[in-house]
Amino acid sequence: MVEHPAENAPRHTGTSTGAGADNGPDADERFHALLRSLRVWDCELPAVDPDPAHAPADPLPFFRQWLREAAEAGVPEPHTMTLATADASGDPNVRTLMLHDADERGWHFATHRGSRKGRELATRPRAALGFYWAGLGRQVRVRGRVTEAGPEESAADLHRRSTGALAAALVGRQSEVLASYADLERASEAAWDRARQEPDAPVPSWTLYVLRPDEVEFFQGDARRRHVRINYRREGAIWARELLWP
Ligand SMILES: Cc1cc2nc3c(=O)[nH]c(=O)nc-3n(C[C@H](O)[C@H](O)[C@H](O)COP(=O)(O)O)c2cc1C
Repeated sequence: MVEHPAENAPRHTGTSTGAGADNGPDADERFHALLRSLRVWDCELPAVDPDPAHAPADPLPFFRQWLREAAEAGVPEPHTMTLATADASGDPNVRTLMLHDADERGWHFATHRGSRKGRELATRPRAALGFYWAGLGRQVRVRGRVTEAGPEESAADLHRRSTGALAAALVGRQSEVLASYADLERASEAAWDRARQEPDAPVPSWTLYVLRPDEVEFFQGDARRRHVRINYRREGAIWARELLWP
């Protein structure tokens, strides 16, 4: 098990709320000026063959190649992604998650079954994932049906991770209202102690999910806005590939 030395150290050295908030005179103008000053696709970007017939027949090796290239290019946390779900009435929701694997079964992620996303997935077991690798100008979208991997695989996945990951999972109650931050500190302290003493501690609500894609889209940004979008659609046993207007 990999132990991250700084994982349990206090991280709060200041605050990003309150004193630094910009709500003085001309705050709107400053904010708009800031937004206008920011750039995308303002660097050398990789070229991608725009002929979908030349793209890999299967999106999985293509995705793995792009993730590896993002890591090699120094894109921070390239294995983080946005997970979109919808509630019973169709209202959408997004949040960031870590990718645990991508294989023939699909894209793997883990969370608490009782969390908001877990409840949404129980009601509507479909989701979309979004990866954005700034610096390479690349985006990947994945959508499809989501299934639970089962308790044994979920436990094995959790127990392969760091002590901090286990401690966080042991705290549980994800997405419930927290009465005070001190309650979290107490629960976290106890969870860290237990995670250190019992590296196989069970967390029944912690669930590994697998999204089996119906569609995967690869987007390569271009400085002249001639972006390349290669879309894969599952058609029975094969993947259809097509180019999309940007
Ligand atoms: C970089 C990053 C990685 C995260 N990874 C996970 C993860 O793998 N699993 C998880 O349950 N929450 C993860 N979170 C927290 C989620 O974004 C989210 O706040 C939490 O899961 C509650 O979401 P929900 O209320 O929609 O269920 C991560 C957050 C960030 C910023």
